[in-house]
Amino acid sequence: MNMGNNRGNDYYIELEDKYGAHNYHPLPVVLEKGEGVFVWDVEGKKYYDFLSAYSAVNQGHCHPRLIQVLKDQGEKLTLTSRAFYNNVLGEYEKFVTNYFGYDKVLPMNTGVEAVETALKLCRKWAYQVKGLPENQAKIIVVKDNFHGRTLSVISFSDDPDSYGGYGPFLPGFEMVPYNDMDSMKKAIAQPNVAGVMVEPIQGEAGVIVPQDGYLKMIRETCTENNVLFIADEVQTGIARTGRMLACDHEDVTPDILILGKALSGGVLPVSAVLANDEIMLCIKPGQHGSTYGGNPLSCAVAMEALNVVKDEKLVDNAENMGQIFRERMRNIDSPLITDVRGKGLLNAIDIKPFGDGKTAYDVCLKLRDNGLLAKQTHTHTIRFAPPLVINEEQINACADIIESTILALEA
Ligand SMILES: Cc1ncc(COP(=O)(O)O)c(C=O)c1O
Repeated sequence: MNMGNNRGNDYYIELEDKYGAHNYHPLPVVLEKGEGVFVWDVEGKKYYDFLSAYSAVNQGHCHPRLIQVLKDQGEKLTLTSRAFYNNVLGEYEKFVTNYFGYDKVLPMNTGVEAVETALKLCRKWAYQVKGLPENQAKIIVVKDNFHGRTLSVISFSDDPDSYGGYGPFLPGFEMVPYNDMDSMKKAIAQPNVAGVMVEPIQGEAGVIVPQDGYLKMIRETCTENNVLFIADEVQTGIARTGRMLACDHEDVTPDILILGKALSGGVLPVSAVLANDEIMLCIKPGQHGSTYGGNPLSCAVAMEALNVVKDEKLVDNAENMGQIFRERMRNIDSPLITDVRGKGLLNAIDIKPFGDGKTAYDVCLKLRDNGLLAKQTHTHTIRFAPPLVINEEQINACADIIESTILALEA
């Protein structure tokens, strides 16, 4: 194979276009190397990564400690399946449950698999413990949610791109507006409700931060009604929002916690569902599983990824760098920016259409030209989510790039 030899961006883009399914529309840049907050394209151009693979690469690209563990464990044992025990899974289970404060963990791989697991667990609990009548369990979700791409998960999406043409859909979900206290309270108090699932900050919807007290209200109303609070922290978890979990902003503990993405620091797919015994032990042997879930390679990398978050104080850094970033964005004197929002290093700006029908995508192209990679979400929003290892000098350099790019667009 003659990979990387004098091939430019266009060559690889054409390859993907010709041989790959067209289920994504990437920004036209082909990356071949990453280190910390930086990535390089195949033509040698260096960029700041302001997406972090949708918040998976919180620890920075190719973190040396993670790559070392990957190599070490990779030479010893990578996969046993759960047909046998392995000597890493138990250590990981002890570590991760202590880290987040739950009795038990159920290991999976991708984010959406963990979401599926949480939904199944919630339904099992509803029938076995809460005593709901068979097949009547209802789970409350919110508008503009994003929990992944499987059939059951898109069954409760209200984004036509996600669900269109994929019916029939799975019943048992009810949708209420996000960040609306009254409708959520009413929904939870209905009969046959098993759980409520929300993203504590909606990532894909465009970094939508709910009003203070929203998560607390969900927690309290769930407790009053014997309903499980399920937090999907696949994108917001693991220091991204300036707390270990976004739920920590309101000091609430979900009954079921869903993690993914940064659990492996972007090295391989690792996700997890955490819950206490009363809930987790509702699933018995043979009732759920995954060949790769809990494999020793993933477990070893995940432990190191979580150690790095603590050792490098990424929670504090995300909080501090996020404050600087939002302040800098709010000070950009441009009518094109209509909103700046976020927590920690999960931020977004809204861009007014400009020029001849240009949108956030066109801004992302200009940012790319200027050495910063970010991706629009929907038409008018750009999410800014760099690796959490970014330092003050770098965050200011990036704010300079964004500011000069946006000011130049107006001209
Ligand atoms: C909140 C949330 N849940 C679930 C997922 C799905 O994760 P995965 O793409 O790993 O299946 C995502 C992905 O962006 C997400 O943001």
